[in-house]
Amino acid sequence: MIQEYRSDDWNNYRMKFNEPHLVLEPLEKEIAVVDGALNMLHEAGVVSHTNYDHAKMLAHRQAVAELFEIPWTAITPRMQRLLYAINAIVQPQNMIAAGIFCGNTFISNAGAGVGPGACYTAKQLIGLEIKPQEAERAERNVRRIDPTGVARIIADDAVDFVAKFSEPIHLLYLDADGDKGRGKGIYLEILEAGYDKMPQGSVVLAHNSANLAERLKSYLEFVRDPAHFHSSINVIFDVEGLEVSVK
Ligand SMILES: C[S@@+](CC[C@H](N)C(=O)[O-])C[C@H]1O[C@@H](n2cnc3c(N)ncnc32)[C@H](O)[C@@H]1O
Repeated sequence: MIQEYRSDDWNNYRMKFNEPHLVLEPLEKEIAVVDGALNMLHEAGVVSHTNYDHAKMLAHRQAVAELFEIPWTAITPRMQRLLYAINAIVQPQNMIAAGIFCGNTFISNAGAGVGPGACYTAKQLIGLEIKPQEAERAERNVRRIDPTGVARIIADDAVDFVAKFSEPIHLLYLDADGDKGRGKGIYLEILEAGYDKMPQGSVVLAHNSANLAERLKSYLEFVRDPAHFHSSINVIFDVEGLEVSVK
């Protein structure tokens, strides 16, 4: 059976892609909706608890709003909070985010480990972007928040990079849109390249699990197969969605 967290208002909660910092709802509502998702992830054994530092999350949000150049993004404030919270709870030593465009999705994950929202010490937080110019902008953005280099952007094909990565991957975030033929179907290729490097308890996050579910069919079948992942939940509190899977 497909496991799903769906908020009542998922289809009415809409952002403007070119105004990513616009407030869409009262903070208490945003926190409550994200808590609902975290509670379900907890019940399913994806996260060990649901606690994260709300003040640090807001410090992270403010730093991104002040320091990042974001031409557009489809990451809603709810999604930004959920990504931050999952990383703050899981505390991945090595995190890889694939297909990060200007770096907003990457830092939503990495912001739990670096910058003013940091709540743990990470080893390597890596964002992968195939277009060199986008990778350069993302790297510029990230450097403004993390001078240490723990979080960094690499211009490379995510399938190739993940295949040659020689360390364990504790959290993998998927958002690459591939080329014309593969599109978001590339998620499964990236996951297959990294699957054996993911220890038990590691987490995979896949953006667009709601609006691009058809394109992600093979990927979703793979992560929802108990032979591959312990559990997998489709979080739908905006039109994009996030499939959260734990090994
Ligand atoms: C649509 S964007 C993701 C934007 C993100 N959802 C947001 O809202 O900010 C997808 C990115 O994946 C990149 N990409 C596509 N194929 C890739 C690959 N094989 N490896 C790494 N990046 C890739 C594209 O260049 C693009 O910048």
